Amino acid sequence: MRATFDIVALGEAMVEFNHAGPRGSRTYLQGFGGDTSNAVIAAARQGARCAYVTRLGDDEFGRMCRCLLRREHVDTSGVVLDASAPTGLYFVHHGPDGHVFTYRRSGSAASRMQPGDLPVALLERATWLHVSGISQAISTSATRTVREAIRIARQAGTRVSYDPNLRLTLWPLERAREVIVATLPLCDLFLPSLDDVRQLAGIDHPTGIVDWCHQMGAPHVVLKLGSQGCLVSDGEELTAVAPFRVDAVDATGAGDCFDGTYLARLVAGDDPVSAARWAAVAAALATTGHGAVAPLPGVQAVWNALKAQS
Ligand SMILES: Nc1ncnc2c1ncn2[C@@H]1O[C@H](COP(=O)(O)OP(=O)(O)O)[C@@H](O)[C@H]1O
Ligand SMILES: [Mg+2]
Repeated sequence: MRATFDIVALGEAMVEFNHAGPRGSRTYLQGFGGDTSNAVIAAARQGARCAYVTRLGDDEFGRMCRCLLRREHVDTSGVVLDASAPTGLYFVHHGPDGHVFTYRRSGSAASRMQPGDLPVALLERATWLHVSGISQAISTSATRTVREAIRIARQAGTRVSYDPNLRLTLWPLERAREVIVATLPLCDLFLPSLDDVRQLAGIDHPTGIVDWCHQMGAPHVVLKLGSQGCLVSDGEELTAVAPFRVDAVDATGAGDCFDGTYLARLVAGDDPVSAARWAAVAAALATTGHGAVAPLPGVQAVWNALKAQS
């Protein structure tokens, strides 16, 4: 029987205030961002049937964020508006050394997620569950909620996709390593970026990192290498996928775009290497604009980019 959803993602979406104009300007562009919500929107723009599971504040921003998800054709039946906690938010400032992120997310509605609140039927009716290290790191109840979501998914035959997205401002390295390493054998697909695993494994070389991921129990690994493209490995064959050349202006969210697009292409029937080639183009295009959501490309934009290059 065909699943109701191709991808159900679980995590935190936040309000984004992106500083605009010259230094000292008091103008901010308001949007929304969050690793798993970016990924699920990227997947929906690629034609996948998606749902998002989170808690947002029952405030203007929470309702606007839910509207955004709906506009992007992401099912929000698993989005709870919480009257007792705010929607998390972050600021992006652009300095001489790149972007500086300032988060105001502690005590956010999403950080209050509980295993008992999970929409079980949604998780059971999906082909993929997508979660991240950020989904786990935002609170101890979120760590338990992700663990329970994975348990429900595995029991129902829903495959599990996992991006460690290591953020040491959210949890200390020792704790992050403990939780992430324990999650590796539970996922079907592991989507780290080079910097994530460098810190977790203490290994620098990309192929050594892929081996480490397999040794820790991940059956299928895509190691994202920023402007260098990615490596795809099923444990037997390792394939390097070249980057798609672009003039990048903002690489934030490239990895999230890659994750969502890769899953959407797998669901559409691509083999892993073809899916990675397509996702590398989408993720490269996502670096050509500012903000978390606006530059996420649809199918046509990826086709156009491929056509323009050939
Ligand atoms: N400057 C870039 N040029 C082309 N492709 C890029 C660039 N930066 C990122 N990408 C693509 O996006 C993917 C994810 O980016 P990466 O920076 O590795 O992840 P994350 O955003 O999680 O740190 C890469 O594997 C690559 O395919
Ligand atoms: Mg990342």
